[in-house]
Amino acid sequence: MKYDVLTLFPELVETMLGSSITGRAMAKGLITLECINMRDFAPPERKSRVDDYPFGGGAGMVIQPEPVYESWRFVAEQRARTGKTSPLRTIYLTPQGRTFNQQTAIELAQEEELCFLCGHYEGIDERVLEEIVTDEISIGDYVLTGGELPAAVVMDAISRMVPGVLSNEHSGEDESFMNSLLEYPQYTRPAVWHDREVPPILLSGHHANVDAWRRLESIRRTFERRPELLDHAELSKKEKAFLETLRNEDDRPG
Ligand code: ADE
Repeated sequence: MKYDVLTLFPELVETMLGSSITGRAMAKGLITLECINMRDFAPPERKSRVDDYPFGGGAGMVIQPEPVYESWRFVAEQRARTGKTSPLRTIYLTPQGRTFNQQTAIELAQEEELCFLCGHYEGIDERVLEEIVTDEISIGDYVLTGGELPAAVVMDAISRMVPGVLSNEHSGEDESFMNSLLEYPQYTRPAVWHDREVPPILLSGHHANVDAWRRLESIRRTFERRPELLDHAELSKKEKAFLETLRNEDDRPG
């Protein structure tokens, strides 16, 4: 997976992705990150300035179209030289985009290259967005100061879905949001801590029973915390019956 990030703060993105699992994936060559500083594409007379006052007035500054377009063209031409002919998937991070989720992470992880456009100030001139952006993504209903944090969030979630990035190939399969269920609780040593015991079944060594217990705990958690997810979960007959008992307990007065 290759990520190209069009940004005014390349060091911020490099720092966020440079450590831990994504850092190791980069060291192994599973992920490549290229940050392009849009200031480098400002016309010489603007001396690295990329923003200007909004037409029509109002607070704040707007990023001009040309440095955005030229930095994007730099990436698109680099890609064309490698023989790729498909359009460059270009993602603009904005609170106006569709809300990011695990399904989108899985879908985007199928691509070989993704270009992220990070805005700042009051936004980016609409005309260049119309020309280059293929997807608009929001990471939630709140407004951040820029697109770098959201881009890092999205790249982190996608990277975990790239084969080989997680040390255990299966560790992405039974975690939260896979099959629309939240993850079951996890425990490690010591077996008793602050008088709290680890559920005995986890110490039994009986893998089938452990798996069954974890499935039911996932269902319980999802029911308690995010019941709307259960509408999309695939449950066995036995699991559906367990969910019914949870619902009935919940309906009981007191
Ligand atoms: N830029 C500013 N706020 C954002 C958000 N919530 N999601 C994506 N990009 C953003």
